Amino acid sequence: MAALVSVWLVSSLLHMINSCTLSNSEPKEVTGYTGGSVILPCSCSDPQATPQKLQWRAADRDWTDIFPPNSPNMDPQYRDRVQVLNSASPGNMSLLLSNLTESDEGTYRCETGDQNYKDIQLCVEGCSLSDSGPNEVTGYIGGSVILPCSCSDIQRKPQNIKWFVFNKHSTVIFPPNSPDVNPRYRARVQVLNSASPGNISLLLSNLTESDTGAYRCTIGPGMNKEIKLSVKAEEETRKLEPQQRVDRERGGPQSKNRSQRIPIQ
Ligand SMILES: *[C@@H]1O[C@H](CO)[C@@H](O)[C@H](O)[C@H]1NC(C)=O
Ligand SMILES: *[C@@H]1O[C@H](CO)[C@@H](O)[C@H](O)[C@H]1NC(C)=O
Ligand SMILES: *[C@@H]1O[C@H](CO)[C@@H](O)[C@H](O)[C@H]1NC(C)=O
Ligand SMILES: *[C@@H]1O[C@H](CO)[C@@H](O)[C@H](O)[C@H]1NC(C)=O
Ligand SMILES: *[C@@H]1O[C@H](CO)[C@@H](O)[C@H](O)[C@H]1NC(C)=O
Repeated sequence: MAALVSVWLVSSLLHMINSCTLSNSEPKEVTGYTGGSVILPCSCSDPQATPQKLQWRAADRDWTDIFPPNSPNMDPQYRDRVQVLNSASPGNMSLLLSNLTESDEGTYRCETGDQNYKDIQLCVEGCSLSDSGPNEVTGYIGGSVILPCSCSDIQRKPQNIKWFVFNKHSTVIFPPNSPDVNPRYRARVQVLNSASPGNISLLLSNLTESDTGAYRCTIGPGMNKEIKLSVKAEEETRKLEPQQRVDRERGGPQSKNRSQRIPIQ
């Protein structure tokens, strides 16, 4: 009996020494950007303390578990996007959440047992389309052209990219695998956004005169930009005086960056 009591005494003493008191000095609100990652801070005042347990939950998803990834109640949307880098200091339970989307916004809870928890508010800022860049571009028959459209911050990732053309009616031209895509464009459109997810400019190649028209990029309801494309015959340029031609190729003497030429590859 005495032995049992002393085991209990020692273990509760150890527990008191090593137990985690959540730090109060870390922010309770953090901001991330779509496509990026964010650290949700949560740590014991003593970085070498060991929390009784370590669990993260998302309030806005009915308190489903998001860490550890092998939790029985794990939300699969988070499985490959969460990490706790606590090998050096067991008392740092901060969560690294990557590949952020706007639906990640909300309240997160870091739980360390014994009703001991901390709530953190995550705000995720998405793409807002930039107004800068030309609204009119000129291309040449057989050539290619870039229709400019990008987020003000080109590292932010838009959720839902679509490009439309307006002829007699509006049709989808990007992404090429959309069910309602206009087949005339399918093999001629590209968005080269691997390095800058927020640059959703459209490269349109093998231009024909009938590509002349109004184009629109959209990233969600009410978020769009319109660009007018005119496609001209190469001869029209050749008829001009040499200096005029140079001016035109550079976008004209009082250039408002109207024309762009991209050589055919
Ligand atoms: C995160 O995003 C990168 C780049 O967009 C992608 O390659 C990777 O598969 C994504 N990971 C997860 C878990 O979604
Ligand atoms: C906890 O770890 C994160 C990175 O994993 C780091 O950014 C943060 O500063 C650490 N917090 C403390 C209190 O050491
Ligand atoms: C317009 O062109 C000028 C020079 O040709 C360049 O300095 C400027 O950055 C361009 N502006 C845009 C919005 O592309
Ligand atoms: C674009 O034009 C080139 C050369 O004229 C041709 O080889 C290619 O098949 C065309 N591509 C499309 C998608 O029309
Ligand atoms: C977007 O990408 C295109 C080419 O893919 C490039 O010409 C343009 O300058 C880029 N725009 C921005 C804002 O970086």
